[in-house]
Amino acid sequence: MLVVGCGYVGRRMARRLAGESPLMGVVRSREGAEALAREGIAPLIADLDAPSPPPLPLAGEAVFYFAPPPRSGRTDPRMARFLDVCERNGRPRRIVYISTTGVYGDCSGEWVDETRPVAPVEDRAWRRVDAERRLRRWSDAGGGEVVILRVPGIYGPGRLPLERLRKGLPLVREQEAPWTNRIHVDDLVGACLAGMERGRPGEIYHAADGHPSTMVDYFNRIADLTGLPRPPQIPLAEARNRLSPGMLAYMRESRRIDNRRLREELGVELQYPTLEKGLPACVASPAR
Ligand SMILES: NC(=O)c1ccc[n+]([C@@H]2O[C@H](COP(=O)([O-])OP(=O)(O)OC[C@H]3O[C@@H](n4cnc5c(N)ncnc54)[C@H](OP(=O)(O)O)[C@@H]3O)[C@@H](O)[C@H]2O)c1
Repeated sequence: MLVVGCGYVGRRMARRLAGESPLMGVVRSREGAEALAREGIAPLIADLDAPSPPPLPLAGEAVFYFAPPPRSGRTDPRMARFLDVCERNGRPRRIVYISTTGVYGDCSGEWVDETRPVAPVEDRAWRRVDAERRLRRWSDAGGGEVVILRVPGIYGPGRLPLERLRKGLPLVREQEAPWTNRIHVDDLVGACLAGMERGRPGEIYHAADGHPSTMVDYFNRIADLTGLPRPPQIPLAEARNRLSPGMLAYMRESRRIDNRRLREELGVELQYPTLEKGLPACVASPAR
């Protein structure tokens, strides 16, 4: 098995598989490779931003593609280069790709399942749509099988917004806040492994916990569990001057992500179906 873009999620996957299946991890940097080696994961360095990335042992492999798209533009040239490498070095048997639920754009708080057409608004969502389309085209043209997981906010040990809470930064008040969705990293790992093992080729699955809430609820729960102050809440009109552009963009999109296909078709039993179940475990073990 090979994880392309073996960062936080990839390392958690390696821990889950320890002793069962050896995992190789592709990273961009020497620091990333050192972090993998410390955890007993065989590192490979390949920068997918380079004009011609080095060969990778992909032929016939089970590949998890977790590398994010670049930070700007509406396309994902990293994915394009990766698929070129597949064509040159040998095609993987199957690729499981982590995309995002941002591809749906604003859904006015409606429940969203995988049959809903994509309607990206932000450039970062367009990049994901581009990556998904490239993967599908590659698969349809005789490449390997592809399974796409659309993922909302990932949280887990070492991945809580503690810094933001410590700074006392405000949030849009709950009555004006959009719906947001989350997944505990270990449930995401379970979804990725299930997608590799028994996902239907070409299928999309929502890897979300199925219990949407608001940013305020998420931050308040973490504040209460860690003893930090709850964030101040401000009206949406005021937030336009005080929140970062990134946070404001999230505030413009409201969706409730349905995970029935993940549970019923893929047979994933979530360990942490609610924040109430998932957050205490993260606070108790803050290491990544
Ligand atoms: N955070 C969220 O809430 C969220 C929500 C939905 C989806 N996602 C997506 O889920 C995926 C996994 O997330 P994560 O938290 O594990 O990410 P992460 O910790 O940031 O790891 C990303 C990995 O990709 C590698 N990478 C980046 N650019 C690369 C390049 N040009 N060539 C080769 N490798 C490259 C990095 O290598 P180095 O270590 O060397 O830098 C790193 O190993 C990402 O695509 C992320 O965008 C995240």
